[in-house]
Amino acid sequence: MPTTPKRKILVTSALPYANGAIHLGHLVEYIQTDIWVRFQKMRGHECWYVCADDTHGTPIMLRAEKEGITPEALIARVHGEHTRDFAGFHVAFDNYHSTHSEETRFYANDIYAKLQAAGLIEVRAIEQFYDPVKAMFLPDRYIKGECPRCGAKDQYGDSCEVCGAAYAPTELKNPYSAVSGATPVRKASEHYFFKLSDPRCQDFLRRWTTGQLTPEPPLQPEAANKMQEWLGAEGENKLSDWDISRDAPYFGFEIPGAPGKFFYVWLDAPIGYFGSFRNLAARTPAIDAAAFTERGTDTELYHFIGKDILYFHALFWPAMLHHAGYRTPTRIFAHGFLTVDGQKMSKSRGTFITAESYLKQGLNPEWLRYYYAAKLNGSMEDIDLSLEDFIARVNSDLVGKYINIASRCTGFITKRFNGRLAPVDSPLLRDTRAAAATIAELYEAREYGKALREVMALADRANQFVNEHKPWELGKLEGDSLQQQVCSEAINLFRLLTLYLKPVLPRLAENVERFLNIAPLTWADADTLLAAGHVINDYRHLMTRIERRQVEALIAANRESLAPAASGGTGPSAGTVSSTHPPSRPSPSKGEGGESGALAPEITLDDFSKIDLRIARIAQAEHVEGADKLIRLTLDLGPLGTRQVFAGIKSAYDPAALTGRLTVMVANLAPRKMKFGLSEGMVLAASGEGPGLYLLEPDSGAQPGMRVK
Ligand code: MSP
Ligand code: ZN
Repeated sequence: MPTTPKRKILVTSALPYANGAIHLGHLVEYIQTDIWVRFQKMRGHECWYVCADDTHGTPIMLRAEKEGITPEALIARVHGEHTRDFAGFHVAFDNYHSTHSEETRFYANDIYAKLQAAGLIEVRAIEQFYDPVKAMFLPDRYIKGECPRCGAKDQYGDSCEVCGAAYAPTELKNPYSAVSGATPVRKASEHYFFKLSDPRCQDFLRRWTTGQLTPEPPLQPEAANKMQEWLGAEGENKLSDWDISRDAPYFGFEIPGAPGKFFYVWLDAPIGYFGSFRNLAARTPAIDAAAFTERGTDTELYHFIGKDILYFHALFWPAMLHHAGYRTPTRIFAHGFLTVDGQKMSKSRGTFITAESYLKQGLNPEWLRYYYAAKLNGSMEDIDLSLEDFIARVNSDLVGKYINIASRCTGFITKRFNGRLAPVDSPLLRDTRAAAATIAELYEAREYGKALREVMALADRANQFVNEHKPWELGKLEGDSLQQQVCSEAINLFRLLTLYLKPVLPRLAENVERFLNIAPLTWADADTLLAAGHVINDYRHLMTRIERRQVEALIAANRESLAPAASGGTGPSAGTVSSTHPPSRPSPSKGEGGESGALAPEITLDDFSKIDLRIARIAQAEHVEGADKLIRLTLDLGPLGTRQVFAGIKSAYDPAALTGRLTVMVANLAPRKMKFGLSEGMVLAASGEGPGLYLLEPDSGAQPGMRVK
């Protein structure tokens, strides 16, 4: 095999936010990257894989506040959880650091200072929404209100989930703060901008994205097209300046020379790649850190990211680096999003699967690594985890084809030949060795699916060989030596297949290395065979089949009920009208469920009987000043007295028409303090995906205070 010169490669995966659990969607990226890194290391290259938690910003600050801990305590805890989850899936970072670190601060300050010196930082006052109750400026995602186009309620400040309109938060009708519920006010403040509109930036980005500055185009074709769209035609100036500062209170790095102003989280997030690497270099004498961050060296820098964060990595990041005098990325590898059984991951369907739960349920992480690899290619297409296909593919490829070769042949060698192998050579062995070059090219190009198809085609041929020679019959008929030879050939084939699968299945490969009694396999080992007389150890079972019930248990463990209080009262919810408005918990995270289609997990009669449902007469129903969704109900529970409940049913009912009616309420719900007063329960109503809300009403004869069970 031609030996390629030793490359020096720095690889990153996107830095996960420090306020959420790692889930199977994330793992697409970390597994994809890890496979690539392991492959590069097996090739003998110097390759460093760094990552970190992305720790700054408003959501993390608010989350810590809600938990009653400091942001530092929150990010320390999450760092532990993330590290544990990644290790569980054999994602082998050389360093997993934090953006809340001195190294990242160092680079952030340095890059900022250099951009400032280059005249690319501008300060100007802008007006923004401000929460007068919380005393803070509100990021767009924390302002909700009615869509300016279609009027849909409870839409985020950037776009409408109902009609798809995109707009500025200032265009929302009846805006409210998702943090406190208060009506935001407009307030001016000075912000710091990175002048992306400067001709120097436009020029650079045009040349960089079209591959004029690098040996290879840095972007995939789909990504380059996107960039073209964002940049516009030559001469057009479509980029606007980038607001890189946020006002206190903010969890982040204070901007030097600007008290009370902090770097926006997305400024220091990618800088965290360098921060993590510097932290690693500081304790690794072999690393020349500057060689990876400075211009004009022969080192390579690759960022694996999801397609959702392309804008930050392909526009802001290279522009920042270039104009601050740093090197720019060699290439950016964007991947698509994970769907499960063809749909977005969903908590109610149980397909929002956390890494932790997968491992806790006892599923083998290498099953998932193999399945993802089999599905991955070099494009930005989404990838689907089809649960049926997952079971079928892993069982048939890994257990049925690959492991089968070893499990059928090694017993004879250990039992009858003291573990000794016979000398072997054959066209099949030569073909299998020669495939190393093609498979390497496919790994290099991130065409893992194709690489594994090559490997499985070779496994098919190996099995065919075993089937034809039936070593289990040979002992009796043709004598020992042929049996030893056939089994030795099969074991050599198995060793080569293991080598090709090792980037994907590192733990399994380690076990194979132990049982074959060999040193860790590297790519160059495809050139060799096991020597005649080599002694292998006893075979021990390498991988079990996936049982359907394991996958079912995993889904059940991740299925969350659509508890009314937890759903925040926005969007359709299955059966109850939450009295919580505005939502007490902002949910700016994307990709979470919230639909009413799926059935909630099973409960026992005991669970149900905890809910005290009572017949209530609506004694009074009134508009609530300043609330567009709520009606204040005074409910008469007969002998149990009266209750005040705020119900989000104004879209469907005129208060006047409600007075005197009977309905059903949850009478033992913990009271909630709301902006408008205390809400002491909840009335029941039906709703579906579409508009429409239907209050429950008992049959005639029911009396206020009666229990419903
Ligand atoms: N903190 C930012 C990244 C900063 S990088 C300087 C972020 N964090 S994230 O936790 O939301 O996502 C981390 C990575 O996981 C991103 O590349 C994202 O695209 C990827 N994925 C998150 N959910 C995903 C799926 N459902 N499917 C595939 N990848 C997904 O973005
Ligand atoms: Zn709309």
